[in-house]
This record gives sequence, structure tokens and C-alpha cells, in this order.
Amino acid sequence: MTANLIFDRVSVRDFTGEPIKMEDQDLLMRAAMAAPSAMNQQCWEFCIVDDIKMLEELSHAAPYASPVGRAPLAIAVLGNIGLMKTPMMWQQDLAAATQNILLAATSRGIGTVWIGIAPHQDRMDAVSKALNLPDSVKPFCLIAVGHPRTRPEHKDGRYKPERVHRNGYRSRCGDDAIGIRPIPSRNKPRPEGRRLWRWPGGRFRRIFFRHAPFLSRTA
Ligand SMILES: Cc1cc2nc3c(=O)[nH]c(=O)nc-3n(C[C@H](O)[C@H](O)[C@H](O)COP(=O)(O)O)c2cc1C
Repeated sequence: MTANLIFDRVSVRDFTGEPIKMEDQDLLMRAAMAAPSAMNQQCWEFCIVDDIKMLEELSHAAPYASPVGRAPLAIAVLGNIGLMKTPMMWQQDLAAATQNILLAATSRGIGTVWIGIAPHQDRMDAVSKALNLPDSVKPFCLIAVGHPRTRPEHKDGRYKPERVHRNGYRSRCGDDAIGIRPIPSRNKPRPEGRRLWRWPGGRFRRIFFRHAPFLSRTA
């Protein structure tokens, strides 16, 4: 899997009726279960839905789930409570599995869109009811899967270097892109002109501020 796959992935919400081949469904499931998980708990299960009535019902499970009703197939990504070693992490694990499915689908030219379900209880209840899930199995998300009728243009300009911080969050550097320009050291002389005075340092500094503590915040 190359980095191009990551950059090629885009949410697809309009599909042809062409079914998804069994070998492709198998790839998506293998990719999902290759994901990392906390304590390697692998608490996931998946429900593949290709029944038109069930797809229609699932398309009403969440406010923006309509792509499921236009897709030949949907995958419900589920968490099995009985398999959870570290239950607080279940959503992260299933998010990793979900992303693997999206990327594997992209590698086969198949379109997908992630439909958020958890942690909204009403959406979880609707999916649980539609899929007849036992109480021990929680729905995390739905993925609409199909061959794209139209493939949306990938949005460029999403990369923002100013969102990247190095060695801590240094908002004091303002517009300086932390990942690109080195941060000027406080110990180096300023490039623009010399100061005529400087705050005292070392032992003298400690004595000075002990007697004038109101100045120390500006030092
Ligand atoms: C947690 C999560 C929930 C999402 N829920 C929905 C949804 O309910 N309906 C939908 O059409 N897209 C949903 N999306 C897809 C986002 O809208 C989409 O990823 C985003 O607009 C960026 O577009 P891109 O995927 O084409 O890069 C969801 C994505 C994530 C990660």
C-alpha cells in the first residue's frame, strides 16, 4: 500500500448498482482485521449488508446516512464488549479498522463513505435494531461501499504546515511555521540591533528579583 492510496481516498456518496465482488469483500475484511488495536484486543466484528430492505432501513439510522440507501453494500463496524481488554479504547480500534477498509477499497477503485454512528445513542439504537445486535455488541459506524457513479475531486490545500508543531506547542512563534523554520534561541543575539541593557542573570538575578518580585513576570 503506497502513500498515494491515502491521498487518492475520497468520500463517495453516489454509486452504480454494480455489486461488490466476493473477493473484494474478502479483501476489505482482511484489511480491517489487520488494523492496530489497544493491547491487541481486536474487539471488532463486521456485518456486511447487501439486502436492499436492510440498506434502506440503515439509511435512516443517522441524519447523514442516505449514501447507504444508494449503495449496493454497507459494512457495519461493530465492537464486541466481551472481547474488550481495555474498553475505553474500543472506538479508536474500530476507527483504525474503518480507515483500513476505506484504503483497501480505494486500492480496488471502490468508493466508500464513513457514516458516523457511535457515540450517538439514538443512532446506535437504530443500527442495533436494524441488525438485531445483541446487547454485548455495539455499532461503531457504517461504511457505504460501491462503485462510484461520479468520483468527487480530491480537495487540495488541506495540508497546513502551521498545524505541525515540533518539540512542543510553541504558539509564541506566531506565524513562523514550526515545522519549517528553526525557532530562534533566546540565548543567541538578536539579528536586528543590540539591546543596550539586559536583565541580570545567575546569582545576581535571583537576589534582584527577590527584592523586586513584581518585575519578574516581565523578565
Ligand atoms: C467520524 C466520521 C463521521 C462521518 N460521518 C459521515 C456521515 O454521517 N455522512 C457522510 O456523508 N459522511 C460522513 N463522514 C465523511 C466526512 O464527511 C468526510 O470524510 C469529510 O467531509 C472529508 O471528505 P473526504 O472523506 O472526501 O476527504 C464522516 C467521517 C468521519 C471520519
